[in-house]
Amino acid sequence: MKRYNMKNQIHNMHTTTTIPIRRTAESGLPGLDINNLPFGKTPTDHLFIARYAGGEWAEARIEPFHQLTLSPFALCFHYGQTVFEGMKAFRMEDGNISIFRLEKHHRRFNRSLHRMGMPAVPYELFREGLRQLIALDQEWAPSGKDASLYIRPFVIATEERLGVKISDEYLFLIVCTPVGPYYARPLRVKVETEFVRAADGGTGYAKCGGNYGGAFLPTQKAIEAGYDQVLWTDAQTREFLEESGTMNLMFIIDGTLITPALSDTILDGVTRDSILQLARARSLEVQERKISIRELEAALKSGDRVEAFGAGTAAVVAPIESIAIGEETYSCYVKEDAVMHSFKAELQAIRTGKAEDVWGWNEVVGVR
Ligand code: COI
Repeated sequence: MKRYNMKNQIHNMHTTTTIPIRRTAESGLPGLDINNLPFGKTPTDHLFIARYAGGEWAEARIEPFHQLTLSPFALCFHYGQTVFEGMKAFRMEDGNISIFRLEKHHRRFNRSLHRMGMPAVPYELFREGLRQLIALDQEWAPSGKDASLYIRPFVIATEERLGVKISDEYLFLIVCTPVGPYYARPLRVKVETEFVRAADGGTGYAKCGGNYGGAFLPTQKAIEAGYDQVLWTDAQTREFLEESGTMNLMFIIDGTLITPALSDTILDGVTRDSILQLARARSLEVQERKISIRELEAALKSGDRVEAFGAGTAAVVAPIESIAIGEETYSCYVKEDAVMHSFKAELQAIRTGKAEDVWGWNEVVGVR
């Protein structure tokens, strides 16, 4: 395969768009109902891949979706140098496709990579990889209600070495899959006070594989006890709410939108940030601060309307219908007129072009 210097390629990318493409001989699309697929199981026809070695990214290309061949010595299998993003693209009313908040996702991707000692992915490589892959697989972007094209950029350490070290070699891939809602119904959650997800100074804010792997056992225990998800609490005191399994946590109490402030232990969610901006634009009072279990319990006990929901790329706005705190289970407000539903609708309208994108959030890919 031709090797070229990605730095030179990137330099001209906004005009030359030179990612080589090898097309699939046979699309997987015919006969598939892309508006009704289980989450994250069906890849689109192509993937983007680039290789990092010798201190630079090279060999960027788009190929038919395929398996990877890696040495069992590849460092990603042993010491957890894996970082990913979760993004979405939407079929717009005019038929074009919008990639949501590409720039913010790219910044977070590089923050995660930095925390894991992995090389940054240049913006142009990230953007052009995404744009060109999505333009090629454009037929895969669904138009159904709550449907979107989920995008998974990720980097893995590939140097072949069993010694514990930072890898000198990596692969950057982007894969896509058409998806519907991540959660089909309002969630029943429990406040987790035994296990923790993240500690100060750790990797909690990074989207690295280990953060998710470490959450599986506690989440599985919660599922076995009849819940859908856990609400994580802080490592030091187990008194303050942090986030939920796959999403940031938000409450609307007394007309105020409250969400835990960002920290080392909380993911800087793109949906979180978007909802906060929408809320402030509506002059809703927004508080990014610590929220304790006791404060939440008092609000839930008061009988006043409390809305609780998760905010995330996959989950979008995931209503929480009940919260277990110790032995007590409390109901939250999830009816149709709940404010959280209006955020979801507003986001959807912006992403699909029904409402004006005053924020500049949509990276539009024109269809042929
Ligand atoms: C996302 O919301 O995109 C995520 O990455 C969370 C989960 C699906 C792993």
